[in-house]
Amino acid sequence: MELILCKTYEEMSLAAADQISELVCKKPDCTLGLATGSTPVGMYRELVKRYEKGELDFSKVKTFNLDEYYPISPENDQSYYYFMHDNLFSHINIPEENINIPCGNAPDAEAECHRYEDLIAASEAVDIQILGIGQNGHIGFNEPDDFLYASTHITGLTDSTIAANARFFESENDVPKKALTMGIGTILRAKKIILLANGKSKHAAISALLDDKITTSCPATFLKTHPNVVLICDEEAYN
Ligand code: F6R
Repeated sequence: MELILCKTYEEMSLAAADQISELVCKKPDCTLGLATGSTPVGMYRELVKRYEKGELDFSKVKTFNLDEYYPISPENDQSYYYFMHDNLFSHINIPEENINIPCGNAPDAEAECHRYEDLIAASEAVDIQILGIGQNGHIGFNEPDDFLYASTHITGLTDSTIAANARFFESENDVPKKALTMGIGTILRAKKIILLANGKSKHAAISALLDDKITTSCPATFLKTHPNVVLICDEEAYN
């Protein structure tokens, strides 16, 4: 695993934006795997800046997001659909039809998971998958458990994830209790994975990622089986 250790959140965001920019310039029709949450916001801000300066063209880029709450409508300002448009898609020239996010208000969640998994499988492999990491080591919404799922599936959120995400909602009760998420196998099929982490609260999860064990109690440890992972983190998460 390659490590890019950064002093600040800003530096981490620029380093991540550099990797995406390089890919988009080299391969304009690339496929990106994207994450939500607070961690990649600075990277998205930087990508928008570079687009506005004319340095990047997203007209042929295709994206797959990792996950979406369930049930939630795309218009809900807490949906990941809303988040992605608010932070990135509405500010760049990516065609709406190139954007893929699990549908949070699909009537049949299982069918939606199959549809999403099949769509990813039928597409060209994801060139770069961006990941954040939960304090408990989750990636996407693959939460610590006795077993993990390989494919896109519906899952319950753990109490600790609901508590961590409550900061975005009016109250903890408003946090949806389920989500649709790519599975560990879906994530590991990306050609390259970039994991971003900042702040002390991520230190335990990053330590587990850097030792030699692989365990379902820290789903991110499965990234150790992937040949092309770059960890970009700040000193607080690392030390
Ligand atoms: C978001 C996602 C989650 C977050 C993780 C960290 O699409 O899949 O795994 O990456 O919960 O969230 P933040 O960045 O808010 O600490």
